Amino acid sequence: MLWAFFVIGGTGDLARNKLLPALEKLYTSGLFRNLSGVYALARTKTTQWEEKLNSFRPEFRALCKYVPFDVKDPNSYKELGRILQEHKGQGLIFYLALSPELFEDTIRGLGVLLRNFENPRRIVVEKPFGKDYASAVRLNELLRRYFVEEEVFRIDHFLGKHTIQNIFSLRFSNSIFEGVWNKNFVDHVQVLALEDKGVEGREAFYETTGAVRDMLQNHMLQMLSFVAMEPPCCMEPESIRDEKVKVLRSIRQIDPREVVFGRYEGYKGKAETFVALKLYIDNLRWQGVPFYLMTGKALARKLTRITVVFKEIPKSFISLLDCEPRQNRIVFEVAPENKIVLYLELRPLADRFIVCPVERQIVFDTEVENKEPYESLLVDLFRGDQTLFMRYDEVETMWKVVEPLLDFPKDPITYPVGSWCPKEAWDLLKKDGREWFV
Ligand code: BG6
Repeated sequence: MLWAFFVIGGTGDLARNKLLPALEKLYTSGLFRNLSGVYALARTKTTQWEEKLNSFRPEFRALCKYVPFDVKDPNSYKELGRILQEHKGQGLIFYLALSPELFEDTIRGLGVLLRNFENPRRIVVEKPFGKDYASAVRLNELLRRYFVEEEVFRIDHFLGKHTIQNIFSLRFSNSIFEGVWNKNFVDHVQVLALEDKGVEGREAFYETTGAVRDMLQNHMLQMLSFVAMEPPCCMEPESIRDEKVKVLRSIRQIDPREVVFGRYEGYKGKAETFVALKLYIDNLRWQGVPFYLMTGKALARKLTRITVVFKEIPKSFISLLDCEPRQNRIVFEVAPENKIVLYLELRPLADRFIVCPVERQIVFDTEVENKEPYESLLVDLFRGDQTLFMRYDEVETMWKVVEPLLDFPKDPITYPVGSWCPKEAWDLLKKDGREWFV
């Protein structure tokens, strides 16, 4: 089937820098050629958009059209209706790549328009999906009024990342890990998404989100759910999403005393640019195992990484040796490199048998090709595979998890630009006798 692709907010940053390039690559590489048109719907046509268009290969460029569009103007939908007439019998994809406050008008406008058409349709909604639990529920209700759940694709680009997908594969396609993936063997888990860049150029947007809404509610909790979920009954989208919802629902209400908010020096706004916290998952697998999450802007380097830290070996066992073996770890590194690393303690070259072990790494380079997360998610979208898109209850549950942090008087600490890890966040683990692997 042929598909017409409509990007609403089609000349904005996301469309220009991520979506359209990903579509171009899929189209020109032959991976997805069933495109009948790519429409960039926006109020104005910017020179940046024109420049981007000119950088595309001619065969893809020929598919792309700019359409003046104001999501609040009924005439815009009339014009869109005229374009839809040209795509009879084809599939229609509407990608909402615009400010979240415009989602509701757009969904309503599209929903009403589409009542006059019978084409198969899909709607993609970017994050942040709402600004709290109540608004996410409202947005879901609105979507339900015009679309069925199978047509709704709530996207989180972290799920298009190869190494994050590999967490699932490592856990559920190998029999050697399941037995140790629980409270009996795991000491704690760390989930990091540190960034060296600040919020330059996105201040207005960021003021409405802050680190909690921008990163924690979505990307961080998605990473956590992949590490912590139960195995699904079978490799089937709904069963996989069921398990993610279950583990998210098992998260104990976050204790505000276990949260550090921060703001980097020189940031002019009121939002928090950093958050670190401890949480627990109250289920049989993870009872008592702390999960530490940390994300922030303007730090020393970009580092996206999940570390599963296994328990120490008994102290008395090694007490006669003057050494302390480090804990085994499995690291899923997403940035700067894509790799999975297993840390083991092994024997060094030595002239005696009883000897202090040294830490060795086994590295699995997981980057098979340089593929952008949006490329793989777009392929799933065209296939109609919703596994890596968030279901309505998943996104609502994630809001419930962060809800106590939204209205909490944040009183953020200030940290210097380029910090490795603000001291207060370091202390969060130190008081538990642990340290961040940064
Ligand atoms: C986006 C956030 O969703 O993810 C940004 O809005 C953040 O603030 C970005 O910088 C991080 O994504 P990535 O893929 O660059 O790690």
